[in-house]
Amino acid sequence: MTYPRVASFKTADAFRRHLRACGAALDLDDTLDPAVLAQAIEVGGVRVGNRFCILPMEGWDGTLAGEPSELTRRRWRHFGISGAKLIWGGEAVAVRQDGRANPNQLLLTQATAPSIARLREDLVSAHRERYGADADADLYVGLQLTHSGRYARPSAAGRPAPLAAYRHPFLDRRFPEGVRTLGDDELDRLVDRFVDAAALAWDAGFAFVDVKQCHGYLGHELLSARDRPGRYGGSLENRTLFLRSVIAGIRAKVPRLAVVVRLSVFDVVPFRKHSDGTGVPETTAAGYRHAFGLLDLSRTCDMDAALQEPIAVLRMLEGLGVRWICTTAGSPYYNPHVQRPALFPPSDGYTSPEDPLVGVARHIDATARLKRAVPSLVFVGSAYSYLQEWLPHVAQHTVRRGLTDVVGLGRMVLAYPEFPDDVLAGRPLQRKKICRTFSDCTTGPRLGLVSGCYPLDDFYTTHADGEKLRALKTR
Ligand SMILES: Cc1cc2nc3c(=O)[nH]c(=O)nc-3n(C[C@H](O)[C@H](O)[C@H](O)COP(=O)(O)O)c2cc1C
Ligand code: SF4
Repeated sequence: MTYPRVASFKTADAFRRHLRACGAALDLDDTLDPAVLAQAIEVGGVRVGNRFCILPMEGWDGTLAGEPSELTRRRWRHFGISGAKLIWGGEAVAVRQDGRANPNQLLLTQATAPSIARLREDLVSAHRERYGADADADLYVGLQLTHSGRYARPSAAGRPAPLAAYRHPFLDRRFPEGVRTLGDDELDRLVDRFVDAAALAWDAGFAFVDVKQCHGYLGHELLSARDRPGRYGGSLENRTLFLRSVIAGIRAKVPRLAVVVRLSVFDVVPFRKHSDGTGVPETTAAGYRHAFGLLDLSRTCDMDAALQEPIAVLRMLEGLGVRWICTTAGSPYYNPHVQRPALFPPSDGYTSPEDPLVGVARHIDATARLKRAVPSLVFVGSAYSYLQEWLPHVAQHTVRRGLTDVVGLGRMVLAYPEFPDDVLAGRPLQRKKICRTFSDCTTGPRLGLVSGCYPLDDFYTTHADGEKLRALKTR
């Protein structure tokens, strides 16, 4: 299955025609006016200087003890010079050793907190050096807290050590050595660990923490734990107990720390690679009970039906005083084409069964519907990187039309850190730096190599792991 390259569309009209032809319900502005994305946004006494956000991107380059390395600091300095004024967590930081998604993921403990505080300072200093001494007055920087649950691989050998929310009829098969389900008492203790980590984040200077609820990790898996017995499973009330308890604990212990939530707002059934290399669903959506916000891609894609429970959760969060929401969807493990639309799949992925633009449009549509349903919340959208040359035009359109409040950038800033600054300054894009969704930033770490943009960032192209990646891909 092949799809036309985004770079081949030379005019807004040509791109628009393709969007219609491939079924991506998406529009864009014909001309750019940097003032639209340069508008500040002020909510509850927090001022964020423009409409670009750097999305969290997990590193595979911390020390075994969970501290940042020079590579981690380089990435965070790049976030600082990007020009984006909202830094949604930097990257997923595990709150406990058994919750690390890889042996080199950052880990927040009393011992590592000083180095993670310095990481934030590196980002802020880089921002000040580039944009002026008081440029951080409207820079909002938080930390994403996580437990990787089913996708934990904490040991130095990097072997899976899944700690699931419940037994899953399809995903369990991917772990031949077995899956352990966390008990209610263990979840109670984990709530305390999240709260302690939030206090450490506050002491380290972060203005907010994101209690991660996405991508199949523990917080997200609990939201679909319909068949789990006990206090954390069954009704939506029970399935949100973990999230609510963490928020209540943080409020009690660190009242001035803001809490935000990154949520997979819809999900689809697990996909696997077909013999022709394309992704196919592993089961049908009918009767599937293991998704939060289940969207049936094989039918009419009833987004409103899929978003019913997510809307209930957002209203609940609104009641708990959460104001900032980052929308994402699915999981990079069991439906990567939904979570991060790409032309080239990662090594453990599959060729996208749809034009990746359809996936981008789905994210934007979901965010717009949620924003209409819960207008008091501030929304940050995701999955824009595949838009490439047309990203600024679509981003401007979504903000101008109120389809989102802020535009999140993931892969694009790994490849092209100054992307937001160039757009905000009205400069032409540096085409050689545009992320082409080669997925090497996912493939590298999946093969045990450090995270980075191997194809476009010379630092990684010439890095020893760049050599290894090329050799592994050739094999
Ligand atoms: C290498 C890599 C690491 C990621 N790590 C995280 C993470 O730690 N936390 C998270 O919420 N999302 C993570 N994501 C997902 C991104 O935040 C984002 O949702 C996704 O890349 C889609 O946005 P984009 O199209 O701008 O790349 C990661 C993505 C990539 C490519
Ligand atoms: S490796 Fe670079 S070009 Fe490829 S998806 Fe990642 S950031 Fe984009």
